[in-house]
Amino acid sequence: MQLINPVKSPSFFQKIQWVANPVRYMETAVKEYPDIFSARIIGFGGNLIFVNHPQALQEILTNDRKKFAAPGGVNKLLQPLLGDYSVVMLEGDRHKKRRQLVMPSFHGERMLNYGKLIRNITEKTISNLPHNQPFLARNAMQEISLQVIIEAVFGLHEGERCQQLKRGLTTMLDLFRSPLSSSFLFFPWLQKDLGAWSPWGKFVRDRSAIDRVIYKEIAERRSLPDPNRVDILSLLMSAQDEEGNPMTDQELRDELMTMLFAGHETTATAMAWALYWTHHHPEVRHKILQELDTLGESPDPMSIFRLPYLTAVCNETLRIHPVAMLTFPRVVREPVELLGHKLEPGTNIVGCMYLVHQREDLYPQPKQFKPERFLERQFSPYEFIPFGAGARRCIGDALAQFEMKLVLATTLSHYQLALADNQPETPQRRGITLAPARGVKMVITGERVRPESQLTMART
Ligand code: HEM
Repeated sequence: MQLINPVKSPSFFQKIQWVANPVRYMETAVKEYPDIFSARIIGFGGNLIFVNHPQALQEILTNDRKKFAAPGGVNKLLQPLLGDYSVVMLEGDRHKKRRQLVMPSFHGERMLNYGKLIRNITEKTISNLPHNQPFLARNAMQEISLQVIIEAVFGLHEGERCQQLKRGLTTMLDLFRSPLSSSFLFFPWLQKDLGAWSPWGKFVRDRSAIDRVIYKEIAERRSLPDPNRVDILSLLMSAQDEEGNPMTDQELRDELMTMLFAGHETTATAMAWALYWTHHHPEVRHKILQELDTLGESPDPMSIFRLPYLTAVCNETLRIHPVAMLTFPRVVREPVELLGHKLEPGTNIVGCMYLVHQREDLYPQPKQFKPERFLERQFSPYEFIPFGAGARRCIGDALAQFEMKLVLATTLSHYQLALADNQPETPQRRGITLAPARGVKMVITGERVRPESQLTMART
């Protein structure tokens, strides 16, 4: 079979490059082949087609399940973290049903309840940070997003079990913090448990510790069911398949781990980038504050969510750093033509949001942070695509965007912050995502007083 626009280096080197420096890998390949190219980065010699042309993406992602399937088996990379029964691994009808079950937890009325929670957690977390001493925004944001998702998934907001989950997840995911250590996900032969001091051995033990906490919670809920609980675990426990069977403990564990993992890592990174850009360009921060101040002393979360400039800043953050570089793979089901190339059944294909968001024809001067783009023009769901699209579109997109806006608004309106690092931040691999390489070092220089309150104080 003839390869479409193949990247020309041996597959092992391609894979190393892809793991070590994905941005350079993608930017080099796209210079040669602007819209579509074949990367040899899966297994040894396996091909993955990267697409960044909006119309082609629309065809691939809206055709899910017909010409292009969205199977779970190809997401094996995440199996050690999420297990075999996560929504990410399911396919076909089971996948669709699982999505339908959990989606309401991240939309509509449930979202309104998260508003107050997000603000309280943000205030508490930021107020615990020392003033005039550097801290890493990525870590602070992770603390917030982890607490929010634990509350959404288990309805737990404090106590020993909540602390165990927070500590356990943070420690376990630390393994994938750098490109080198992310190799454990990409090279399965590195996944060797050589005792508690070996990296994979430590990961396996950390994972077991989290599993114990999750299974304990499941057992308690089974013995003492509470029909009034509205958290995701309660929802999953009340679900039944066609034969009337409830989900097994293993299925529940895998889904809970998925929500915990997918629900906080990405959002924490996006919020850290948002803090970075709003302080790298003080005029952006100033404009956000001006807009926020029009809402009065304590605005309700939905009014904050609807603010146009704040929305543009969050969109531009997700545009320039889409966090997830790629959609999950789709697989060609029947012979199909895409951008003039013939694709055979069985071909693996991904939407590359990183490269879509870097297209000069859509986003002139793409390396520059310009929120105004989103005020001046509307982008289609295949031009601005941080959450993917179609059958596997992100389940938590609304929660993530709500959280980004509320955390940014709460932090900026109460505190004066500054970047504590003169070097620009750069994106670096963190597991399967891109995150700020140095974690965005910042410092709190004081509390912020709203201009109106300043005037009132001056008058009295
Ligand atoms: C800024 C934050 C986030 C980003 C950038 C992001 C991005 C993505 C992307 C790109 C996908 C794959 C879409 C596709 O293949 O078409 C995805 C899937 C998914 N996301 Fe998110 N996500 C974020 C936050 C969240 C949150 C808060 C949750 C909450 C639980 C979540 C849960 C999931 C799940 C469960 C899937 C798998 C869906 C499936 O397999 O059907 N994500 N996300």
